[in-house]
Amino acid sequence: MFHSQKFRLYLFYFFCILFFLVLIKFVCDSAPNSFKTAKIGPSIVFYNRIPKTGSTTFTNAIAYDLYKQNSFNVLHVNMTKNRQVMSLPDQYRFIFNITSWKERLPAFYHGHVAFVDFTRYGVPNPVYINIIREPLERLLSHYYFLRYGDNYRIGLKRSRAGNNETFDECVVRSGKDCDMKQMWLQIPYFCGHLHYCTEVGNPLALETAKKNVVEKYLLVGTTDRMRDTIALLEQLVPNFFQGALHHFDELDENRAHLRYTKKKNSSERSDLVHC
Ligand SMILES: *[C@@H]1O[C@H](CO)[C@@H](O)[C@H](O)[C@H]1NC(C)=O
Ligand SMILES: *[C@@H]1O[C@H](CO)[C@@H](O)[C@H](O)[C@H]1NC(C)=O
Ligand SMILES: *[C@@H]1O[C@H](CO)[C@@H](O)[C@H](O)[C@H]1NC(C)=O
Ligand SMILES: *[C@@H]1O[C@H](CO)[C@@H](O)[C@H](O)[C@H]1NC(C)=O
Repeated sequence: MFHSQKFRLYLFYFFCILFFLVLIKFVCDSAPNSFKTAKIGPSIVFYNRIPKTGSTTFTNAIAYDLYKQNSFNVLHVNMTKNRQVMSLPDQYRFIFNITSWKERLPAFYHGHVAFVDFTRYGVPNPVYINIIREPLERLLSHYYFLRYGDNYRIGLKRSRAGNNETFDECVVRSGKDCDMKQMWLQIPYFCGHLHYCTEVGNPLALETAKKNVVEKYLLVGTTDRMRDTIALLEQLVPNFFQGALHHFDELDENRAHLRYTKKKNSSERSDLVHC
């Protein structure tokens, strides 16, 4: 009698332990996706690319070349009328769309869009990355790109085609295309959608941009250190960028500098910078 009571007690303990083990396994298996993806990497990488910083090289030679082998999707965020900002309802729709579109995950999004803070809508931010360029160099590249295009879409007629004014000549007559205000262009990409972000020289905009770079971006590389940027990304986000550095190193010269702006006279730049 005494024995069998003790036996039943042991049996009870045994089932209790078994029950908890099963419960733990069940909880782990049914944990939300974030629990599992935390181990294998993020599900959305957002590259809010800036024109004339090497962004096409990066997007084509890394994202579009690797998406099959690393099993992710590449989606272009096409902004209407080349504007970089979205209205609040559009931001909401956009965030809702990309975070709930499970069939497309993991996804690499790219587009000329100012930083969108997902956390303002109660959703965690995706992995933000970007590439920046020395502002005068970027402006020069853009200036000549509008006139002579590049080696990427050769036939395409650019908006200033036929205009042979050099950047220096433009500066001398205070032209619009070489207006130093254009050196502000990269700030709103990081400052975001706040009203002051596009005000050239606004100190708060600069502060916000810097703060976001530090706090909201995983990595912001520079054009002249593209290879280092890719190497770091491969280490930081391997589920998207595994094999990226090797692939980049194997590219022929023409593709590594996919959008080499034509007719850019490099001696001009030093004239301007050192004066
Ligand atoms: C973006 O949308 C415009 C029309 O809104 C279209 O003309 C253009 O081809 C699109 N660009 C890309 C790359 O899909
Ligand atoms: C997101 O937007 C795309 C393109 O507009 C659409 O095809 C897709 O169904 C949307 N996904 C969700 C989950 O709303
Ligand atoms: C620029 O083009 C105009 C006419 O197309 C020509 O007369 C002029 O000599 C050109 N200037 C330079 C510096 O090539
Ligand atoms: C660049 O411009 C300078 C002066 O205009 C000229 O002397 C030089 O040969 C040019 N270099 C190239 C590569 O075209």
